[in-house]
Amino acid sequence: MEPAQLYLDLLKRCLLDLIYLDDPLAGMAPADVVHRPLLGRAALRLANGVVRRLGLTLAAPPRAEHADGADLQALREEGRDWPPRAHTMVGRKRLDHLQAAVETVLREGVPGDLIETGVWRGGSVILMRGVLAAHGDSERRVWVADSFRGLPPPDGKWQIDARSRLHLIDFLAVPRAQVERNFQAYGLLDERVRFLEGWFEDTLPTAPIERLAVLRLDGDLYRSTISVLETLYDRVSPGGFIIVDDYALPPCKAAITDFRATRGITTPIEAIDWSGVFWRKQAA
Ligand SMILES: C[S@@+](CC[C@H](N)C(=O)[O-])C[C@H]1O[C@@H](n2cnc3c(N)ncnc32)[C@H](O)[C@@H]1O
Repeated sequence: MEPAQLYLDLLKRCLLDLIYLDDPLAGMAPADVVHRPLLGRAALRLANGVVRRLGLTLAAPPRAEHADGADLQALREEGRDWPPRAHTMVGRKRLDHLQAAVETVLREGVPGDLIETGVWRGGSVILMRGVLAAHGDSERRVWVADSFRGLPPPDGKWQIDARSRLHLIDFLAVPRAQVERNFQAYGLLDERVRFLEGWFEDTLPTAPIERLAVLRLDGDLYRSTISVLETLYDRVSPGGFIIVDDYALPPCKAAITDFRATRGITTPIEAIDWSGVFWRKQAA
């Protein structure tokens, strides 16, 4: 393997927490997800708050099917678990595809920056920055867009999001300082990493982004998908990639379908794995 590919392969293994599989923490599940029905939301919030202040994470013991390293590896291939420690939850297949997309725009000279809307602990954007570094790009910026406090509650505007309870899951709320620390841990935090903090509909319309070569959407909801497409799609260069993490979630899929219908986009959607899809923007 070429040195750049070796580096990127190791980077992905670290981002997915696939390096120390024999560590008991590796297979644990986040307590907010597993124990909520037992403890109740209020008790869990209290416990989580106390434990976090001590610099610790509340986690449940590995489920039987996760206890073995090989099983965990299979889950992480596909992005099918919510990892306690990994810096991304999207899985290896979607990371491999993201790497290939960034390498394609570099090779073909598709102009523009890279963005992820919905970053959680930052792993996918860290990979984007790593790919630029590995290939000696010194121009493009990486935009890191998130509320850094989790998903928005349903606001009544979109009926399809009305029953969502994702905003109640503390595990999905990762503070900006933690994402910055994660970038730093890989030596990849610099002036070309730009943070857009707040709800997408507030931050993206005025974000100083001229052109995008890769637009990666990972906001789960209809609202968090449609608002990104409405504000950023026109800034994607011809040949640029639109990558959607949550196509398996009906609200996200509906937003993609509605937006493409409104804009008359007929470029086929291609599958990455069971949830990730993408298409490339055609020249007008
Ligand atoms: C599933 S996580 C993203 C996973 C991440 N891409 C990864 O690599 O693991 C969804 C993220 O979207 C953010 N989010 C969802 N809707 C949002 C909105 N409307 N505005 C800002 N952030 C939002 C949440 O805060 C959360 O960090």
